[in-house]
Amino acid sequence: MTAGRPIYLDHGATSFPKAPGVVEAMTRYLEHEAGNPGRGGHRLTVAASRAIEDAREEIARFLGADPERTLFGSGATFWLNTVLLTQLNPGDRVVTSALEHNAVMRPLRWLERSRGVEVVVETGEGLGGLPSAEGFRARVAAAPTALIILTHASNVTGAVLPVAEIARAVAPVPVVVDGAQTAGSLPVDFSNLGAAAYVCSGHKGLLGPQGSGVLLLGNGIDVEPLIRGGTGSRSESEEMPQHLPDRLEAGTPNGPGIAGLGAACRWLDERGIAAIAEHEQRLVRRLAGGLSEVSGVRLHGWVGGASHTGVLSFTVAGHDNGELAARLDRRDGIMIRPGLHCAPAAHRRIGTFPDGTLRAGIGPFNTDDDVDALVGAVRALSSR
Ligand code: ALA
Repeated sequence: MTAGRPIYLDHGATSFPKAPGVVEAMTRYLEHEAGNPGRGGHRLTVAASRAIEDAREEIARFLGADPERTLFGSGATFWLNTVLLTQLNPGDRVVTSALEHNAVMRPLRWLERSRGVEVVVETGEGLGGLPSAEGFRARVAAAPTALIILTHASNVTGAVLPVAEIARAVAPVPVVVDGAQTAGSLPVDFSNLGAAAYVCSGHKGLLGPQGSGVLLLGNGIDVEPLIRGGTGSRSESEEMPQHLPDRLEAGTPNGPGIAGLGAACRWLDERGIAAIAEHEQRLVRRLAGGLSEVSGVRLHGWVGGASHTGVLSFTVAGHDNGELAARLDRRDGIMIRPGLHCAPAAHRRIGTFPDGTLRAGIGPFNTDDDVDALVGAVRALSSR
């Protein structure tokens, strides 16, 4: 690595560093609160329950959800599987976008193969494959549809999908939103989104630890548990309790992770999501502007404006993505992710399959200098 501090620009994959207060909250939990929440009544189980319920309140408030219908699990993938595998039955039809991550596409393809679920992909318009509300309305009008599932923003291009508009257009068909790329990066008010459920990871825009994820449930959807086990409640029964959150939270929870996530949401709330989104969008515009002036660079799916997260995909003519990313890391200390980003469907749709792209992901702690360093390094490498 050359002189200078390392520059982390891979927030589409995971956030680094975490929000101030996260490490402290996790350490406090492990040192002073780590009983088994809801199991028994001694002081450490009470402390653990309090830490987790405080975090639940914090996250629910931050995302505009009902705390009783805010559930903790291991990540967005776990909750997407829970919803899809328990909602879709043989013969059901599900409609999705062409920009989905494998956390959606792999369960859907499995359901298609093993349960005969019909998977319909709304391909959207233009090079970026952004779907419209009209496109989804037409799909739903064509045949009875059990569910719509779609990402809130592409993890490959950063383009934001009009999920609220789509939800209005397809009502009363339930819409499930994969918010892995938007929670903590854009303002999210679940109470006004019109979605039946919203899923997100805790470790990306929410700036919490890995191994934490959240499901927000609306009133019109009743999700079955994917796993069953102890909850500390109704222990006389061999059936899962019916009340939330226990019905969907079997097993000892990730207490330190949840405490860390609660602290991260406190920090996000104090900083203000509007200011964070504005900062990331300004930097991504700066990056797009700088890269588009480098000879041989092509941006993929860049839509600009407020309809974009801090994620940006690009390629450099005549250069291998993996080699360029490795050189940026080794030579310039700049970390970005090359390849398919676990989203082959999205890359097929935007025409970058199988080689993929280089993807930069901006977070709240990045600066103009970070972005300019990436542009300068790509310019230097591309001219070799
Ligand atoms: N889903 C993560 C990404 O987009 C890991 O890189």
